[in-house]
Parts: sequence; structure tokens; C-alpha cells
Amino acid sequence: MESPFKADIVKGKVALITGGGSGIGFEITKEFGKHGAAVAIMGRRKSVLDSAVSSLRSLGIQAIGFKGDVRKNEDAVRVVDATFEHFGRIDILVNAAAGNFLVPAEDLSPNGFKTVMDIDTVGTFRMCHEALKYIKKGGPGRRTSGGGAILNISATLHYAATWYQIHVSAAKAAIDAMTMSLALEWGTDYDIRVNAIAPGPINDTPGLSKLDPHEMKSNQYGAPVHQFITGEKWDIAMAALYLASDAGQ
Ligand code: HXC
Repeated sequence: MESPFKADIVKGKVALITGGGSGIGFEITKEFGKHGAAVAIMGRRKSVLDSAVSSLRSLGIQAIGFKGDVRKNEDAVRVVDATFEHFGRIDILVNAAAGNFLVPAEDLSPNGFKTVMDIDTVGTFRMCHEALKYIKKGGPGRRTSGGGAILNISATLHYAATWYQIHVSAAKAAIDAMTMSLALEWGTDYDIRVNAIAPGPINDTPGLSKLDPHEMKSNQYGAPVHQFITGEKWDIAMAALYLASDAGQ
């Protein structure tokens, strides 16, 4: 599909994308790169990172991968600093790393609940907190007068009750709350735009393959649906591009 945006809409910007090696995170990374950004991706699996980076480079995109787990403080510090050292600035942070599995609340251990909260919610906060010094107005390497952008990937699961997704619904609801708090505090103090995108079910993603609609009950995605219609990764990447670019200022 042809992009509705100019090819250089994020030229000169540097983006760090957690979970950028696969699924929605990879699609966002690829479109940022195709529209001029240099991209760093963070993920737990080296093989996934390596293949994503070589595919990005084959498109002429300046890309680097850093192995790391958003649940670990030392990984967040190392990856954020390495991104800055490699590219000399950080303009955009996308928090796309997430964990998920279908499980009835009765069968979910507190540690299973905590694991998803740690990845999705605490991991998102940790990365925002660590990247703040580079993304804020006047941060090192910033050539423009303003601050950069943070984009959190949420979901629609918590807009209503969703079967077998108590952990992810709680985690994404917290991400929405956190996004608004950071938009208020860091938008006011540091000129950072903090937004979230809430995809519904998206074709060809680890999320959808794990949450096989046939295994779930009707109306499971938290929004009224008369037909099961899925979105495309492209839709989310275009929304991300708008929000992260100067068009979204
Ligand atoms: C019940 C489970 C479970 C399962 C893990 N646990 N898988 N409980 N059913 N299927 C429990 C374990 O029993 C354990 O608790 C705890 O969770 C930690 O499990 P580990 O295996 O040690 O954790 P880890 O290896 O770190 O794996 C993390 C993970 C994993 C979340 C479990 O599945 C993961 O990271 N997946 C990859 C990412 C992914 O799925 N991305 C798609 C996101 S889609 P105990 O008590 O036994 O110690 C998305 C969008 C949704 O978020 C919206 C769609 C519409």
C-alpha cells in the first residue's frame, strides 16, 4: 500500500521501539525507517532481533538491535544509553513490548498476573522514565527546540469485560492512565507528546494468533462487534507515524 505521508516525514529523527522485532512493533519500526527515521529495536530474542535488523537494513534503513528485557532495570538503562551513543539523540520512544496468553482468571496464578503487569505496565513506565533525559526539551543531542514523543501501545480489552484477559486488561488500563499522567506532567514541563494507540484485533500478529477468536467467546475484545473484523498492522503503523511526526504536534 502507498503511504499517505511524505517519504521524509520523520527524517533526522531517532526512534527506539521496544518489541520492535515482531508484530505491530516491527511494522511501526519499518514504516518509521521507510519515512526517514533511524531506528533501534529492543527485544528479548536475539534471533528475532537479528532477522528484523537485516530485513530493515535491506530496505536501506539505519537500524540497530539491542537485546534486552523491559522487566530489567539494567537492560532499560543499557539499551536507552546505547541508542543515544549509537545515533546521538533519541526523539521517539515506542513501547510495543507486551506479554499475553489466554487464561481464565481462576487458573491464573498471581505470578502470571504480575508477569504481564511487569512487562506491559511497569516495563512501559521504566522505559519512559529512563528515556526522559534524552527525549525532553533541551536533552542531550536535541537539535530542535522542543521535546520528542512517546507512544504507548495499549488495547481495547478493558473498555468492557473481556474473557480470559484479566491480566492484560488490567495492564493496558494502567497504560492508558499512565499515558494521560505523563502527557500532563511531561507535556507541560518538557514539551514531550505522550500518546497511546489502542489496537483491536490485528491480523498476522502474535497477539491474534494467541488470542484465537474461535477459542474465545463473543464480544471478547471489549467493543461491540457485529462481525469479526480484524485490522492490519499497517493501520497501526500509519497512526504511529502521524503521532510521532511533526504532523502530530
Ligand atoms: C497461565 C501462564 C501462561 C499461560 C505463563 N503463565 N504462561 N499462566 N497460562 N499460558 C504464568 C506462569 O505459570 C508463571 O506463573 C508466570 O506466568 C510467568 O511465566 P514464565 O513462563 O516464567 O514467564 P516468561 O517466560 O517470562 O513469559 C512471559 C509470557 C510470554 C507473558 C508468559 O507468553 C510472553 O512474553 N509472550 C510473548 C509476547 C506476546 O505474547 N506478545 C503478544 C502480545 S499481544 P507461576 O505462578 O507458574 O510462576 C497484546 C495485545 C492484546 O498484548 C490485544 C489483542 C486484541
